[in-house]
Amino acid sequence: MIHQGKNAIRGTYVRFVGDPFEIGPDNALDYCTDGIIVVENGIITAIGPASEVLAQDIINEETYIETYRDAVILPGFIDSHTHAAQIDVAAAYGEQLLDWLNKYTFPAEMKLSNYGYGNEIARLFLTECIKNGITFPVAFSTSYPNFTDALFNLADEINMRIITGSVFMNRNIPDKLARSCKINYDDSKELINKWHDKGRAKYSVIDRFAVTSTPEELEVVSALYKEHPGVYFHTHLSENKAEVEFANMLFPERAGYLDIYDYYNLVDERSIFAHCVHLTDAEISRLSEAGSIVSHSPASNMFLGSGLMDLKKYIDIGLKVNLASDFGAANKVAMLPSMDAAYKAAQLNNYSLHPACAYYMATAGAAKNLGLGDCVGNLQVGLEADFVILDNLATTTIAWRTKQCNSIAEMLFIHMMLGDDRSTRAVYINGKRIFVDQSLQLV
Ligand code: GUN
Ligand code: ZN
Repeated sequence: MIHQGKNAIRGTYVRFVGDPFEIGPDNALDYCTDGIIVVENGIITAIGPASEVLAQDIINEETYIETYRDAVILPGFIDSHTHAAQIDVAAAYGEQLLDWLNKYTFPAEMKLSNYGYGNEIARLFLTECIKNGITFPVAFSTSYPNFTDALFNLADEINMRIITGSVFMNRNIPDKLARSCKINYDDSKELINKWHDKGRAKYSVIDRFAVTSTPEELEVVSALYKEHPGVYFHTHLSENKAEVEFANMLFPERAGYLDIYDYYNLVDERSIFAHCVHLTDAEISRLSEAGSIVSHSPASNMFLGSGLMDLKKYIDIGLKVNLASDFGAANKVAMLPSMDAAYKAAQLNNYSLHPACAYYMATAGAAKNLGLGDCVGNLQVGLEADFVILDNLATTTIAWRTKQCNSIAEMLFIHMMLGDDRSTRAVYINGKRIFVDQSLQLV
């Protein structure tokens, strides 16, 4: 029998057999130093020690096996909150959130109404994702539908998982970025019909944040979200103290920042709230009760001086927390540096984030919280074959330190503290290798 599209990779793999926050990091990690993962038509069809897989009738002489030595095979990274529109704001000096938005970010996003420029930025962004092992971005677009469409199109070309959508914003922004509620609603509906659940894409209705929306716009966002069960809602919440004050000032009739979104029925288990640094206890309880997702963005929080989210407290309370870069405020489209930032932010709160927990929040845990744990995010039979292969020889220090390490947790920790895009040996999306040895293989 000819197995169309059957291939396999061999090497050290690491995966999750449970939630490390619940069952402990040592119990949650499963690894094999000589394993084989078999992929057919984009799906993992077998995984196990090479000796076992080879002994079964799974692989035949026609199966192409790619072997990775001095490397670690992991599920591809999920970046749970990032901005595809912000390549032009990477490394923007000297401001905190509200001034950073006005001085750098809004002008950068305004340029994307141009089709050609928008396409180029969308391509650059997805290229950076791939080079950094991010196989599934959960990304803000901007307010222009051409840019959102370009993102979906490019992701679709390579069968990449993506959650994105056009951004609603209509006040406290430059006029050129603002679009009428009606036009944005109509365009968004068209994009939802075109892209939601097409291939591996999902749509998110995005409100930039309450500060840039009128009550009328939030009504429209709410209606759009309600009319399309299955899409996500994505926004920012309580990132910066001046922002919280501004939001409360604009909506004095609401009980607090989260209550603004709650009033418009935007707080549920498909809602993604980026940052959540300065939440009140009542807001933490409400997010927990609603089952909403918090996208922890420590690299950005430190760059913009926004504050330190109390990860340990949120986990102990039972909040669903995913890891995110929040690029461009993070400067790098990257999850290893985001884990590094998460570790340092936690240390500053007297908590040592275990590497198993950090990787979980960027892979299996993120997928589970997004309701996609049965599709993606782990190395298991039946899941989509998105992999990142980290190079143990990526840099002189990584090569030296990985040779010394005694456990898989230590190995993961070395990668998260020392790694960057040089760490990516190869990337597989939907079973197909599209990046290897620092070059893209998109066709
Ligand atoms: N709040 C509203 N818009 C943004 C943005 O683009 N980046 C960040 N970090 N926070 C925001
Ligand atoms: Zn953001």
